[in-house]
Amino acid sequence: MSQATNSNSFNHRKYRAFTPIQKPDRRWPNRVIEVAPDWCSVDLRDGNQALIEPMNPSQKLEMFKLLVDVGFKEIEVGFPAASQPDFDFVRQLIEQDLIPEDVTIQVLTQAREPLIARSFEALQGAKKAIVHLYNSTSTVQRQQVFNKSREQIKAMAVQGAHWVLNGAQQQPETDWRFQYSPESFTGTEMEYALEVCDAVIDTWQPTPACQVIINLPATVEVSSPNVYADQIEWISDNISRRDSVRISLHTHNDRGCGVAAAELGVMAGADRIEGTLLGNGERTGNMDVVTMAMNLYSQGVDPKLNFADMDRVIKVVESCTQIPVHPRHAYAGELVFAAFSGSHQDAINKCMAIDAEQRCDDPHTHWQVAYLPIDPRDLGRSYQQVIRINSQSGKGGIAYVLEQDFGLQIPRWLQVDFSPHVQQRAEHSEGEVAPADILDTFTQVYLQPDNSGSINRYTLKRSDQSDNISAEITTAKGSININGQGKGALDAFIKGLAPVLGSEIVLLDYSEHALPGKLGEQNQQAEAMAYVQVSIKGSRYCGAGRCDDIVNASLQALLNAVGRSGVTLSNSQAKRIEA
Ligand code: KIV
Ligand code: ZN
Repeated sequence: MSQATNSNSFNHRKYRAFTPIQKPDRRWPNRVIEVAPDWCSVDLRDGNQALIEPMNPSQKLEMFKLLVDVGFKEIEVGFPAASQPDFDFVRQLIEQDLIPEDVTIQVLTQAREPLIARSFEALQGAKKAIVHLYNSTSTVQRQQVFNKSREQIKAMAVQGAHWVLNGAQQQPETDWRFQYSPESFTGTEMEYALEVCDAVIDTWQPTPACQVIINLPATVEVSSPNVYADQIEWISDNISRRDSVRISLHTHNDRGCGVAAAELGVMAGADRIEGTLLGNGERTGNMDVVTMAMNLYSQGVDPKLNFADMDRVIKVVESCTQIPVHPRHAYAGELVFAAFSGSHQDAINKCMAIDAEQRCDDPHTHWQVAYLPIDPRDLGRSYQQVIRINSQSGKGGIAYVLEQDFGLQIPRWLQVDFSPHVQQRAEHSEGEVAPADILDTFTQVYLQPDNSGSINRYTLKRSDQSDNISAEITTAKGSININGQGKGALDAFIKGLAPVLGSEIVLLDYSEHALPGKLGEQNQQAEAMAYVQVSIKGSRYCGAGRCDDIVNASLQALLNAVGRSGVTLSNSQAKRIEA
């Protein structure tokens, strides 16, 4: 018997399956989310409560400003009755008039009279506010934590609702809204959860014009998201005064499905979602609002939140929570738009070229790029961050980096020749090859190969029949003069060079383009790039040349290709041949 099956500590029989409600008439699987829910951030409450080091006042303010800037209209700003720093922060927001007109702050309170009174004290002078009342209703909490009956737990909720109502009546200058959460809702018998919620609703007497929020938390995620959706649809169908109730969801991520549960819950009828930016929160975290909002965005739905400056979101969240964002975090991670694999890079390149072309004709073209669910630019990311090079990468990706970062449009045959050089460098470094290192490799291999000469000067006489070239080449061993005649400068140069080499040079491929500035430098005078592939003694060699003069660039490219053949140009040989 293996050690694993023998072990007493790792034993699935210790657990049992969650019993789902029976709901054969479920309608939610056929629904599609076409409108974003209302969002409520709980970063400053649930998120903050879960931190090793809770946010200090300046971090709270920075977080609050970010939440306002991305577009939250409801923000739970703390649990003021339970924490003095939370109380002080609520006071600061109100006294310093930091809450925009269209934003409503929310505070959490337990269903206990002094805590409710203290919460109203914290909210004194607020223009509008949500008081969020909760008590735990699940079987396990009732029986093991509170040792109270169903009736007693319901009575606590109703009593709390009365105290909230009274508190609001004593501060009529504030526009109040009420929220109730049967905490640990998913672990509560559904009929009983409904009974408690209905009793609270009955106490608050909401109307369609003055709705209450019933928040249904998956305090601990205990089932698959479809089970949660069934629960939400059932409550939504059966709750009293449905038109006077906003059904809100508050999911946690214990099974890694916090976002999925919230999405299915919205399909099942929920109106509002509570969550945090990038999912900070108790244990595995709260529902990640960034992911859910961006999921909607990627389906063409206005998320009603704006994450165009994702880097700011990451920076603030990381500095306030002291928790780094995972590099593979959906939409936000450093690597989520990066492609290392050669086939992915090729596909992305092709699709992006088509997209750019189509977008010129119709700016509303729908995004359709393989491996990229959304355009990284929408989140402030550049294409440079997409194609990243390591030993898995292919020629397309390498060519893409050379073009995007340095303006080099290397032809396909050169891409094929170049990629093993980069791969070798990646294997050697056992990591990523930065764009500057790719350029460095390109320069070493094609622009400055060993054994190559450089064009010192040349003269070209053109006529209808042929071109005559005279060139002086500087090599490590001195200068060499070349004279040749042919059709075009390059052909004439090849003819002049062949005797120096003592073998024929066959031009296989040639390509040239203008560079917007000097290679690797910005805002400089334009240069020309030339690329050649030649055959010498049956083997192929590539070279590149650059110069502000295109003829010079092409002669240099040829010379570099010849240099790569390993043949050393020699003056004596040239003289011998001339003689
Ligand atoms: O997870 C939870 O149940 C909560 C409630 C207080 C809403 O955070
Ligand atoms: Zn929570």
